[in-house]
Amino acid sequence: DKKIEVSPSVISGDLANLGSQVTLCEKSGADSFHLDVMDGHFVPNFTMGPDLIKAVRKVTEKRIDAHLMIERPDKYYRVFHDAGSDILLIHYEAPISLKLLFNRMAKENIDYGLVINPETPFSHVKDLVDGCKILLIMSVHPGFSGQSFLESSIPKIREARKYIDDNGIDCRIEIDGGINYENGKKAVEAGTDILVSASYIFYNNIAGSIEKLRSI
Ligand code: DX5
Ligand code: ZN
Repeated sequence: DKKIEVSPSVISGDLANLGSQVTLCEKSGADSFHLDVMDGHFVPNFTMGPDLIKAVRKVTEKRIDAHLMIERPDKYYRVFHDAGSDILLIHYEAPISLKLLFNRMAKENIDYGLVINPETPFSHVKDLVDGCKILLIMSVHPGFSGQSFLESSIPKIREARKYIDDNGIDCRIEIDGGINYENGKKAVEAGTDILVSASYIFYNNIAGSIEKLRSI
């Protein structure tokens, strides 16, 4: 059995005590951290910028993934990289050339992943996953935590898993949105490697819910 990674999305934590929340997650077994960056254009909400990532960087050595829900990732990826993110998760739906951007990032030795929204079929992006550290499949419409998991992501995970395995591509599959123990289990059975969760972790007992997700 391979190990499932749990990546808390700190957006739903107690932001006035961000440092201790991150430390508690880490002590409870969090494998990495997921930082949701929203610019009020690409999604109708605002969240964290590079300074917040810098703050989290100071308190953990775990991997930090910056989920860039912004209109111009090509303009800002370097800022988020310099702030301390290890992997930059870039949306397919951003109005830019992903091919060009990924080539540039590869040349600069900056790790990246590809994110797809619920309405984007996997077939549209399959030629882009080679070179990505992570394929992030959104199981809610991005913008807010606390939404319910969209079941349509399960067949999408299966399709991506098959393609990645059949082609021997070194890219992990991550799922984000509405994850709890029950649908986290379904997502893992379909082929997910990394579970992102905000409200299930932070609106419950933090240690207990991380442990529960890790036990899947
Ligand atoms: C949604 C974000 C998610 C979100 C997850 O736009 O990308 O990472 O914070 O929150 P939950 O787990 O509550 O759905
Ligand atoms: Zn996210």
